[in-house]
Amino acid sequence: VFSIKIHSTGEVLEVAPEQTITEVLEAHGVFIPVSCEEGVCGTCQTAVVHGVPEHRDTFLSERERASGKLIMPCCSRAKTSMLELDI
Ligand code: FES
Repeated sequence: VFSIKIHSTGEVLEVAPEQTITEVLEAHGVFIPVSCEEGVCGTCQTAVVHGVPEHRDTFLSERERASGKLIMPCCSRAKTSMLELDI
């Protein structure tokens, strides 16, 4: 379990192991556009403000992955207990 923080509102939401970040956001009325939901298309790309993503996509380049500044929230998760997203 980790939490995501919505940068624009300061809202903090928990992401359970069986949920994705986009599912949790959608359940709270925050819609990030998705297409493949498997980390391949790039549609859901979101900027990270704080925290370290655990990348599970195949879209980002090695450099983008290492920067920790971008995440594909349809499938990726967090290494830190909190991940603040620029939404
Ligand atoms: Fe395709 Fe997230 S929806 S990479």
